[in-house]
Amino acid sequence: MSKPAWANALDQQLKENPKALSYAFSTLSSENKPKVRFVIHRGVTPSNLLLTTTDTRMSKPAHLAHSPTVELAWWIEDTNVQFRITGQAYTLPPDLSSKSDEASKIIEGLKMEGKEEGSAEWWEKKRKELWGGVSGHLRAGFGRPTPGKKLEEVEGSDKWPETIPAESDDPEERKTIEYALEHFAIIAIRPEAVEFLELKPIPNRRTQWTVQADGTWQESKVAP
Ligand SMILES: Cc1cc2nc3c(=O)[nH]c(=O)nc-3n(C[C@H](O)[C@H](O)[C@H](O)COP(=O)(O)O)c2cc1C
Repeated sequence: MSKPAWANALDQQLKENPKALSYAFSTLSSENKPKVRFVIHRGVTPSNLLLTTTDTRMSKPAHLAHSPTVELAWWIEDTNVQFRITGQAYTLPPDLSSKSDEASKIIEGLKMEGKEEGSAEWWEKKRKELWGGVSGHLRAGFGRPTPGKKLEEVEGSDKWPETIPAESDDPEERKTIEYALEHFAIIAIRPEAVEFLELKPIPNRRTQWTVQADGTWQESKVAP
């Protein structure tokens, strides 16, 4: 199947704005309250799933387990465009291959059956690849106390690692890496509707795409 037009538009924008990698990502809490925060875009898979990463101990994985419906808003300042993407998102946890029921639920939710991304092994390889690609400073965060825990309940921040490598031959460092890597998870988003707003042209342009039951995309241009 050819690449959807929205994915080409996103590619083009990221080519022109390679540093514009953060977007606001909204989930639903277990009380069905909207929760929004920024995350970093970590790539698009061959079947056009958007990837970001998180700590399994943060709220996002719990929210997604409660409701996979998400929306993101991505403003790219230099070209003055906005993508608003609605879809279904799942957390791909570190130990996915050992939990086959969970794996099949995720693969079904992401509609990945028969696709390159349709196996737990594919996701584990991707997780390790992304782990190698983030900064040592960011990796260190996954080895620190549970995010959101009261500071007075955790050990002094002077003992927290500042940076850790992706791999190591040193046994002590390996333990630190393994512990941190246990918390490093991918979030994969399967877009179902995309809106692309272009604010530079006058009049502004607004294009919407919606996925159809057969997986094709229907395009509609609307008044801005
Ligand atoms: C520019 C920016 C980028 C961020 N990128 C991420 C990210 O990729 N993944 C992530 O889990 N948190 C990221 N954060 C932190 C989140 O916004 C948020 O504070 C944290 O994930 C806890 O959110 P949660 O408890 O709702 O899951 C980023 C924050 C900023 C300001």
